[in-house]
Amino acid sequence: MASSDNAMITLSAVTKRFGAFTAVDAATFDIAAGEFFSLLGPSGCGKTTLLRMIGGFEQQTSGEILIDGEAMGTRPPNHRPTNMVFQSYAIFPHLDVAENIAYGLANRPVDKATVARKVDAALEMVRLSGLGKRRANQLSGGQRQRVALARAIVCEPKVLLLDEPLGALDKKLREEMQIELRQLQKSLGITFIFVTHDQEEALSLSDRIAVMARGKVLQIDSATALYERPNCREVAGFIGNMNFFEGRVVAVEGDQAVMEIGPDIRVRVPLTGQSVTAGGNAILAVRPEKIDAVVDRPAPSRNAIRATTRASSYLGDRSLILADWHQEAAPVSVSLQNRHAAAESPLAGGAAREIWLTWPVEAGVLLSD
Ligand SMILES: Nc1ncnc2c1ncn2[C@@H]1O[C@H](COP(=O)(O)OP(=O)(O)OP(=O)(O)O)[C@@H](O)[C@H]1O
Ligand SMILES: [Mg+2]
Repeated sequence: MASSDNAMITLSAVTKRFGAFTAVDAATFDIAAGEFFSLLGPSGCGKTTLLRMIGGFEQQTSGEILIDGEAMGTRPPNHRPTNMVFQSYAIFPHLDVAENIAYGLANRPVDKATVARKVDAALEMVRLSGLGKRRANQLSGGQRQRVALARAIVCEPKVLLLDEPLGALDKKLREEMQIELRQLQKSLGITFIFVTHDQEEALSLSDRIAVMARGKVLQIDSATALYERPNCREVAGFIGNMNFFEGRVVAVEGDQAVMEIGPDIRVRVPLTGQSVTAGGNAILAVRPEKIDAVVDRPAPSRNAIRATTRASSYLGDRSLILADWHQEAAPVSVSLQNRHAAAESPLAGGAAREIWLTWPVEAGVLLSD
């Protein structure tokens, strides 16, 4: 992506090697001013390393990082317009809450009254007003996390770097803090770069998400675009659940490809910019909730394959079905919304039966690898 006018961060071929191992491989993208941007990927994919390079805690092996138009070069963390939020244990137990927050301003030329005012404002921002004199061991996990946030925002950075800041919290608190984080980011209007390996957290919080694997950025998009139009098998499989049908493109007709996914089984797939030629291998990806399971043969305008139910489980709001459709292929997962009473379902009873699996053409995604 070319550097755009409102880019707060511009990464150009940013690479980090530890010996022969490449932890981050030529990361090249922009993050806009005021964006809530997440780095998402499995453990060890390079998220923390990339974040630490942006913050100046780690020097890149090659490439350049611009923040607000300025090349960062080898500038140390305290000379960058960034601040990092570490996990809760990073707050000092021997200081009270206000002192912990004021620590963020320790190296700044500000007088005592200004420090007090800024600390109060930061406390209010993270909803800890009145708790300034508490010690760390008198705080809950969520409150400690808010202190860490307050300490980072008290110096009014242009960019806040957050490395799994909610990782130590239990699920309920984590969900509350997610909402607070998003509100905080909106009211501060600053750029957040948020690292997580929790896809739901990334999807619900972010304006855009970079999905990483093995040091590489695979795709950068909004949550809906990542879910609806993944650009490769890895992203498609990492975000949510996905069925993959391996096959061959037999024809390209306008903005659709005709794919053969089994002996004499042909389906249509929309083309949204992929370059495909007849004869080439391809993968069709379809989400479980986009597939319907029906008894009667569907209209020819829809894709349909004959299948046999192998297992089904009733989950209240939806039912999950696993269906075999072709001897050598993996079974297909189908997720059906239970809008009607279970007894009315074509699958009521649970015994193995012949069905049609069907989905509209536009529900499929063609992947090249
Ligand atoms: N100082 C280092 N020396 C050698 N290898 C390192 C160093 N720091 C990180 N690595 C390696 O670089 C890779 C990326 O590490 P990184 O911490 O960025 O992963 P991560 O995506 O943040 O993972 P996690 O979700 O587990 O925190 C890992 O394989 C890690 O072992
Ligand atoms: Mg990490």
